[in-house]
Amino acid sequence: MGDLRGKDILTAEQFSKEEAWLILGTAEALDDALEKKRSLDLLRGYLLATLFFEPSTRTRLSFEAAMHRLGGEVISVAQAMTAASVAKGESLADTARTVEQYCDVIVIRHPQIGSAQEVAEAASVPVINAGDGAGQHPTQALLDIYTIWKECGRLEDLTVALVGDLKHGRTVHSLSALLGLFDVRLIFVRPAALAMPVELTRGLRATGVEIEESEDLATAVLESDVLYVTRVQRERFEDPAEYEGLKGSYVVDNSLAQSFKKRTVVMHPLPRVNEIDPEVDSYPGAAYFRQVRNGLYIRMALLSLVLGEA
Ligand code: NCD
Repeated sequence: MGDLRGKDILTAEQFSKEEAWLILGTAEALDDALEKKRSLDLLRGYLLATLFFEPSTRTRLSFEAAMHRLGGEVISVAQAMTAASVAKGESLADTARTVEQYCDVIVIRHPQIGSAQEVAEAASVPVINAGDGAGQHPTQALLDIYTIWKECGRLEDLTVALVGDLKHGRTVHSLSALLGLFDVRLIFVRPAALAMPVELTRGLRATGVEIEESEDLATAVLESDVLYVTRVQRERFEDPAEYEGLKGSYVVDNSLAQSFKKRTVVMHPLPRVNEIDPEVDSYPGAAYFRQVRNGLYIRMALLSLVLGEA
């Protein structure tokens, strides 16, 4: 089994299949343990610092809830872009060297690609990337594969369609990398202007992952076990008109759901804007709020593993 003690969590590519299973198995055990007790004592005495330079609801609250449920404590800067000393011109590295004086582990979200790496290089405590701009979101990808495993009962022999803004969406960058560890066929459904970065697609194909690229959602749903829908990432566009032209590219609604061949699992990292009509929420395969809950278990697993207390 891999050992994540003291490690940073920066990209999805850093994980072996063995480590991915270690994290999923730990999350499952913590899920079971939380059924019996509201909180555990695993991380009593430990302190987490969360630094969020971009908006967040789920990622920040789930990390903080995870730490509290494990008996640990949290210090937090929520609107770090304006509330922390970077607003006075402090470098991210100096912020990292400061924050680590107070805590045992750091979770950071920042709009710049590579920012978590920069913090990890400066800090000696484990650093967890909670989203670096249009780069990576590895903890989301872990909760996504945990959800697929729970919903489908396996991570092999599946067709997964990733739908929407595959260019700017960090969740799909990380998720396709993790799914590449398993025997999964990928369909990238996107307008040509929002295609997955070529280096990423090329890298996955080079390791033998079967990938199809398409603009046609209606056809992709016929073959898919999982539909992973994403929002067009408005904040990554320089030209608002371009965003306006692309934002409605794909909508999952009940009429599309009628054509599902099987109990297709519908996922979304959230927040949704208009990509999944709320009428789909009552469809049994609509997994996005169960997916939110799974984020709690995965983040509990990651915190206890990097702190060596799992
Ligand atoms: C995602 C993100 O921040 O990248 N949200 C999340 O963490 N659940 C997806 C998004 O913002 O579209």
